Amino acid sequence: MESQQLRSTAQGLVAEGKGILAADESTGSIEKRFKGIDVESTEENRRSYREMLFSTSGLGDFISGAILYDETIRQQAEDGTPLVDLLQKQGIIPGIKVDTGAKTLAGAPDEKVTEGLDGLRERLAEYVELGARFTKWRAVITIGEGIPSPYCIQANAHALGRYAALSQEAGLVPIVEPETLMDGAHSIQQHYDVTERTLQIIFQELYDQRVELEGALLKINMVLSGTGNSQQAGIEEVADRTLRCLQRTVPPAVAGVVFLSGGQSDEQATAHLNEMNRRGPLPWALSFSYGRALQAPALKAWKGDRSNFEAGQQALHHRAKLNGAACSGSYSSDMEKVAV
Ligand code: 13P
Repeated sequence: MESQQLRSTAQGLVAEGKGILAADESTGSIEKRFKGIDVESTEENRRSYREMLFSTSGLGDFISGAILYDETIRQQAEDGTPLVDLLQKQGIIPGIKVDTGAKTLAGAPDEKVTEGLDGLRERLAEYVELGARFTKWRAVITIGEGIPSPYCIQANAHALGRYAALSQEAGLVPIVEPETLMDGAHSIQQHYDVTERTLQIIFQELYDQRVELEGALLKINMVLSGTGNSQQAGIEEVADRTLRCLQRTVPPAVAGVVFLSGGQSDEQATAHLNEMNRRGPLPWALSFSYGRALQAPALKAWKGDRSNFEAGQQALHHRAKLNGAACSGSYSSDMEKVAV
């Protein structure tokens, strides 16, 4: 493990005013997103869409890294330039999702465990060759009647630890992502409790499995009211609870904490991040690694048509810029209205 290299990549990913573009939707997930705009999910459409995103001029001013899917890291732009090179030219660090998805946990039909450890060491070596410098693994924790079980949290935490240790062995910065879903009727207190417990167990596993925290990032959900709960917490309460949860569980040695958007609206995701950073200084850099909350307007503007590349890129650039401002607490909702 080359400690210095891991640390400098991790720090680069949370550089001031920048965050990560999560563009690692699996084939199944991107199909769902494309369905929303009535576009067929062919390999060519997926390639073209990602070419549009990665060739956005000036994206590197606000985006430090981009997470790719296995198919994408092997694709080229229309002119033959590897998509990875499009990112590197802008100073954006390429990364790769390495889990193979959340599957039903044996003996716990309503819960999931993330798979992908078999053959991971060999896959990581190939991703290094393809230009990746960091990895991502997402565990899914669901809140419901009697769940999550300690068994589910423990099984996912153990897998996250094994994945993170293997990534660092390969010289890749792991982004450890436990997502406690916002879907459900739970209160914000329940979301807080489950997120806190999950983080405690994960950091114990990372310690036991000798993961160097300075060369790793945490990707986490914000603490929110369940989407089906009639009481919806406001921006201040979300910021309070999320920060309290992180301060109680995440060691300051961790290079940075980045949030997933998880189904929040674009503007909510930006406003929440901004409010937390406004309350700084914090023990770690606090930034974003959004999928939907960065891509949704770009996807809508693109509509599957190459002639809309510029409109899609403007939409992505605008959201990236606003989230960049939220990293220093300098975003305001007025900035939403500024012409893109
Ligand atoms: P969302 O921001 O759309 O939740 O996606 C982020 C991500 O990478 C989930 O794994």
